[in-house]
Amino acid sequence: MLTENLKIIGVVVGTIGLFTLVANSIPQVQSEVPQDLSFGTDVTAAELTASGGLLFGSAGGCTACHGLGTRAPNLLTSNGSEGPIGARCGDRVTGESCKEYLYRAMIEPNVFLVEGYSPIMPDMRRSLSNDQIWALVAYLEAQGGEVTVTGADINQEGEGEAQTTMAAAPVPAGPTSDATDPLEILRANACLGCHVLSGEGAPIGPGFDGIGGRVSADYIRESILKPSVAAAEGYEAFAGLMPAIYANQLTAGQLENVVMFLAELR
Ligand code: HEC
Ligand code: HEC
Repeated sequence: MLTENLKIIGVVVGTIGLFTLVANSIPQVQSEVPQDLSFGTDVTAAELTASGGLLFGSAGGCTACHGLGTRAPNLLTSNGSEGPIGARCGDRVTGESCKEYLYRAMIEPNVFLVEGYSPIMPDMRRSLSNDQIWALVAYLEAQGGEVTVTGADINQEGEGEAQTTMAAAPVPAGPTSDATDPLEILRANACLGCHVLSGEGAPIGPGFDGIGGRVSADYIRESILKPSVAAAEGYEAFAGLMPAIYANQLTAGQLENVVMFLAELR
């Protein structure tokens, strides 16, 4: 009994110690650059945005500073009267497009400092791969702006400083696939990157199984078109994580197919 209790206490203390260690190490991450994420030249804006959203809320470590208190500017909501990051990124540095600015904000965060903040943001190349950084740029562009990151940006020869010529043609905003089957539409738009359906997908947002029994078709439609309007119960902390790009990315027919499909899942 005593040894059993000691064992449990040991595990608890060990776990807390580990979390503290991880939490403390976030601002000066020196960990190995993860290599598991890599995109081909044909990667879609939706895939990039979904991956970036996942990173932003988890392994990227961004929320350790952004969105909590006043140590860093808000990115998903308006910073003062400037609008969310996707709306203000193009106005920050004269001559730098939105994606150029965001990319540089990640690799040379202290070259341009947002007024009122200290140079505490780490160079993200220390903890993230080039592909991951571009996915984050796409995700941030989607917050109030248009995603212009393409596979060409990511697969450019030479990384970091050399990457100043980012003249690749922007992805035309519009449907990413012409699928009509609801499941195909969900897959093509990376919805299952954050929602689980019949065991497929990742549980970042609420699961789709039985969603029609919980909420109405109108609510589902609104959640897709204006994701941050009503954060799903229990997922308030993740409000703002779902990309606000689907009004552009789905045709009206695809949207209705998906809404009806989800509304009928009981
Ligand atoms: C240790 C705290 C910290 C972490 C972690 C952090 N940032 Fe920052 N970030 C800041 C601060 C402070 C600023 C404002 C000063 C500056 O411009 O560097 C900033 C600025 C930015 C800006 C420019 C914002 C604007 O309004 O122009 C972007 C974009 C950004 N961060 C993205 C990220 C992303 C994406 C991550 C995660 C991969 C991240 N940051 C992680 C502290 C942090
Ligand atoms: C980057 C992650 C991410 C992606 C990609 C994503 N979602 Fe979400 N979604 C979320 C999160 C987190 C929530 C809960 C917070 C909220 O409501 O904003 C959510 C909420 C929802 C809701 C409301 C669910 C409920 O139970 O209230 C619906 C419906 C939905 N998403 C559908 C979709 C569809 C359809 C797609 C693809 C076209 C999609 N999502 C893509 C993260 C994502």
